[in-house]
Amino acid sequence: MKKILVTGGIGYIGSHTVVELYNAGYEVLIVDNLSNSNIRILDQLYKITGKRHEFVELDLQDSRAVDEFAKNNQDINGIIHFAAYKAVGESVEQPLKYYKNNFYSLINLLVAYPQTNFVFSSSCTVYGQPDTLPVTEHNPVKKAESPYGNTKQIAEEILVETAKATKGLNVIALRYFNPVGAHASALIGELPNGVPQNLVPFITQSAIGKRGPIKVFGDDYNTPDGSAIRDYIHVVDLAKAHVAAIKRLEEGKVEGYDVFNLGTGKGSSVLEIINAFEQSTGEKLNYQIAPRREGDIEKIYGDVTKSKQVLGWQTELDLNEMMASAWRWEKYLKENPF
Ligand code: NAD
Ligand code: WQD
Repeated sequence: MKKILVTGGIGYIGSHTVVELYNAGYEVLIVDNLSNSNIRILDQLYKITGKRHEFVELDLQDSRAVDEFAKNNQDINGIIHFAAYKAVGESVEQPLKYYKNNFYSLINLLVAYPQTNFVFSSSCTVYGQPDTLPVTEHNPVKKAESPYGNTKQIAEEILVETAKATKGLNVIALRYFNPVGAHASALIGELPNGVPQNLVPFITQSAIGKRGPIKVFGDDYNTPDGSAIRDYIHVVDLAKAHVAAIKRLEEGKVEGYDVFNLGTGKGSSVLEIINAFEQSTGEKLNYQIAPRREGDIEKIYGDVTKSKQVLGWQTELDLNEMMASAWRWEKYLKENPF
């Protein structure tokens, strides 16, 4: 059985990917330092898959610990690297925390596993506000708005250069649009730290009474209803794309480096998301129009032709399922607090 090392595998996207790797017949080795996740997710993964996945608590910033770990774990067929800090606002306040974790972790892994199949979590944030939409992988990368965004841009460059210089290191960078929703079982999902900065977790927490009304950041954008547009993608669809990426690497079809957009290809406004949540759950939301949020772009959605054609992957779950599953997870958390 092929074994995949999943860093950050206790986190939001990583945990869903563990399930899909298992479903596809892979063995999984998870490492995480639990800095933004809860070890109980490991039990939840057991409930979903019926398997106790191997887990090692490890801080990837610690180069000696990573070397030691790699010495004892040479039997892996690929790495999916999710582990990173991801809060845009916090990265502006504490840039070094972000540069340190996101770069040291990546570099330590590449040093410890110089020749491997490597899948990297990148982000549509690298495009900034694109000049043309839908945005393709050929659109230029724009100067990052935040240290977090900058870590993704520079990490991509590190990977391009290292893959070019290293025979046997083959890399796929996946640029996620806006991941939302939760596993159909409602046993795993997003666990925001404090007040959610992202739209969908704020919506579900507001609906369950944990937060006040939703603030719609800006209704004066140049969009049909004035609110900002994003390409929301179900986390389970996103997770499946990682399996497709690993398979492509295993087939030896990536020479060095390749990059893919992962979205639905369809843009939705904030007001449309609010409406979709109400429609799919029957819950009524309280919201108010607020000023634009600093650093936000007006609209983005991806051209996902390349992912379809080359990875043979496309999304299957729509906005209704994104909202319904996010809501089931929020209700599960209320009954079973973490
Ligand atoms: P998450 O915080 O839920 O998961 C990341 C996991 O990595 C956490 O479990 C955390 O404890 C772990 N981790 C962090 N630093 C570590 C370290 N030094 N050593 C070991 N483990 C460490 O985040 P997520 O939403 O699942 O995001 C996963 C990846 O996808 C990240 O790289 C993120 O930047 C990227 N991404 C996320 C989004 C999004 O909106 N969620 C969008 C685009 C890209
Ligand atoms: C979505 C839309 C907000 C909260 C961020 C990162 C990006 C990527 C995904 C990692 C925007 C609006 C939000 C609220 C609102 N992450 N909004 N009220 O900003 O598109 O992307 O997560 O790589 O890098 O920047 O996602 O969910 O924060 O916002 O009106 O309370 O919802 O203005 O238009 P964003 P988001």
